[in-house]
Amino acid sequence: VKLRASLMIVILILFTVSETLMVSVKSHVSVQRGHTAILPCWLAFSQSAEDMDVRWYQGSNQFDTPILLYQARAFNLSSQKALFAGRVSFGLKEETSGGLKAGDVSLKLENVTIEDAGKYTCYVKTGHQPLLSAVMRDDNKVNMSCQSDGWHPEPELRWSDSKKALTPANVMFSKNSTGFYSVHSWVLVSSPFEVCCSVGLSNEEPKETRMRLNISSSFEEVNI
Ligand SMILES: *[C@@H]1O[C@H](CO)[C@@H](O)[C@H](O)[C@H]1NC(C)=O
Ligand SMILES: *[C@@H]1O[C@H](CO)[C@@H](O)[C@H](O)[C@H]1NC(C)=O
Ligand SMILES: *[C@@H]1O[C@H](CO)[C@@H](O)[C@H](O)[C@H]1NC(C)=O
Ligand SMILES: *[C@@H]1O[C@H](CO)[C@@H](O)[C@H](O)[C@H]1NC(C)=O
Ligand SMILES: *[C@@H]1O[C@H](CO)[C@@H](O)[C@H](O)[C@H]1NC(C)=O
Repeated sequence: VKLRASLMIVILILFTVSETLMVSVKSHVSVQRGHTAILPCWLAFSQSAEDMDVRWYQGSNQFDTPILLYQARAFNLSSQKALFAGRVSFGLKEETSGGLKAGDVSLKLENVTIEDAGKYTCYVKTGHQPLLSAVMRDDNKVNMSCQSDGWHPEPELRWSDSKKALTPANVMFSKNSTGFYSVHSWVLVSSPFEVCCSVGLSNEEPKETRMRLNISSSFEEVNI
């Protein structure tokens, strides 16, 4: 029994921060030393994870030293925990899962060692960078629109200028057939201005987009 125990590595997968988005049926993974472990984790709506931030880390407090960090459609190795270098990639929870495109963010851990035993957290950050657009109106005010898609659950949207929070005139949410929320809002501002539209979940760092605009009189003349 002792020999067998020393060869089996037990890995426990914790739920992610965005619990509503994620599922994990198999919470214990056992694998022999030197073999490959697949730690299953996937999005509940078979939603593509290609544009999301995916982070795997050990325990529940090693967020800053991830095993695998996928951001902006690329692996970011800058803060990777050295123990895992060259041994991790995305794996398939089952052969037909469809991979990252179908929301399978399972971790493939090769050449498993005794040191790998423990708890792992799969964390997926939803939501896209807000898109800001500006439309000049006849009264020289500017209608700023902010749009951000791919959230779950419903995010909060905030406007601010360089000094203070602005009250949004209009915030609209919509939910698409795969269960993701979009948010849209607009405000009227006068030039010159700096506005920031910030969208995020209440317990996480928001995604922000800023725009500065200074319409000088010569610029206006050119456009009339
Ligand atoms: C990689 O991750 C580090 C630490 O989280 C971060 O500071 C850096 O901006 C990231 N690099 C890229 C290219 O995203
Ligand atoms: C697996 O680990 C062994 C011993 O540490 C090493 O010699 C081998 O190169 C590793 N293989 C891979 C694919 O990392
Ligand atoms: C500002 O633009 C939005 C579309 O982004 C539009 O729905 C809204 O009516 C506009 N507001 C004004 C006052 O023009
Ligand atoms: C739902 O929203 C997500 C995130 O923006 C998007 O990737 C997906 O294509 C949308 N699905 C449908 C059916 O519109
Ligand atoms: C806006 O542009 C005008 C003319 O170019 C300049 O005098 C003014 O300082 C600028 N304002 C800001 C806030 O940058």
